[in-house]
Amino acid sequence: MTTTVTPWDVEGSVDYDKLIKEFGVQYISDEHYNYLKELAKEKGLEEHIFLKRKLFFAQMDLGKAIQDHKDGKPVFLYTGRAPGGSMHIGHLIPFMFTKYLQDLLDCNLYIQIPDDEKFLFKKDLTLDKIEEMLLSDLDDIAAIGFNPEKTFIFRNTEFMSNMYPLYLQTAKKITFSQARNTFGFENSSNIGQINYPALQIVPTFFEKGQCLIPCAIDQNPYFLLQRDFATKLGYNKNATILSKFLTALTGPNGKMSASDPSKAILLTDEPNQVKKKVNKHAFSGGRETLEEHREKGGDCSIDVAYQWLYNIFEEDEKEIQRIYEQYSSGNMLSGEIKKILIEKINNLLEKHRTQKQEAKENNLLEKYMKTGELAQSMWNKKF
Ligand code: TYM
Repeated sequence: MTTTVTPWDVEGSVDYDKLIKEFGVQYISDEHYNYLKELAKEKGLEEHIFLKRKLFFAQMDLGKAIQDHKDGKPVFLYTGRAPGGSMHIGHLIPFMFTKYLQDLLDCNLYIQIPDDEKFLFKKDLTLDKIEEMLLSDLDDIAAIGFNPEKTFIFRNTEFMSNMYPLYLQTAKKITFSQARNTFGFENSSNIGQINYPALQIVPTFFEKGQCLIPCAIDQNPYFLLQRDFATKLGYNKNATILSKFLTALTGPNGKMSASDPSKAILLTDEPNQVKKKVNKHAFSGGRETLEEHREKGGDCSIDVAYQWLYNIFEEDEKEIQRIYEQYSSGNMLSGEIKKILIEKINNLLEKHRTQKQEAKENNLLEKYMKTGELAQSMWNKKF
């Protein structure tokens, strides 16, 4: 199977060593991991499981962002989510991690909601449909608990008139040929698509300080392009901190996708649905028969339940080691490892539902989008 990784599509089993070269990024070094670990300690926080297990594994200029932070220079975070489908737990990863980084760096955060992107890229999607999805996405993002005074969440269709001058400067720096080479546009691509990269780059210029972008590696092409012209516009080249994809429930090929909701864990799934989906669809590294499994053991390297537990759920080193040993020796069965995963997912979703409710009660979204300190300053800012 061939592998494709673009900002819109991930197909096939991803070879991250190869992708790193193709995408022009580097691994996160031990020095970077150690710095973030030390910083966490200073703030009374644990090292994040996504760092400990190297789910966040690659970067551009992370060293520069770290150095600026050490030197007391301004660093700001930027990430985003394009409404156009249901949010699944893979989508939570960059947001959970961004909150952690905001706690560590105590800095401003910009969250772009490109409510134009999927409209332009998905043939049958209408603006009305996006509007519905957007409202539920916003509630999910508000549930993460960012700092309300230092976070600005904006939708492109609403903030466009404010950021238009900055967008113009950006768009003028990107030629059609650069956009085509980076994103594979064709003669049949609509011109909204061709223009879209400028819009995703604009927020990297919201401040003069160092922009650091946490996201999965699929989004990096935009930010690689930004580096070609940022300094010419008088800004810093952006830095990124990039994660691997949470694999699809159905196997290590590709990333989890909401296009087949029966096979992705959606943020709206009830405990029973989670149980059914995991039991039915989670790709197992277990053996065909009980005898064979007991004899040869399960294969953790392809078992989705193990992979998910390792990468995002089981923080405790001894416990993940125990699960690894029990499962690969055949003592633990596929149904048993799935049961552990089901409980973890349901705990996460339960916590998410509670936080969503609290965010509503505290009007957090209003603060992020309009009334918080950073939001207000952005609505008054002249670019
Ligand atoms: P979108 O809405 O497709 O995805 C939102 C974020 O989730 C990440 N992601 C995943 N992470 C781990 N495992 C997965 N299976 C998985 N699937 C998606 C994406 O990398 C992304 O960080 N064009 C963007 C929206 C955007 C943006 C940005 C993203 C606008 N500005 C700045 C990052 C940074 C998009 O369509 O993301």
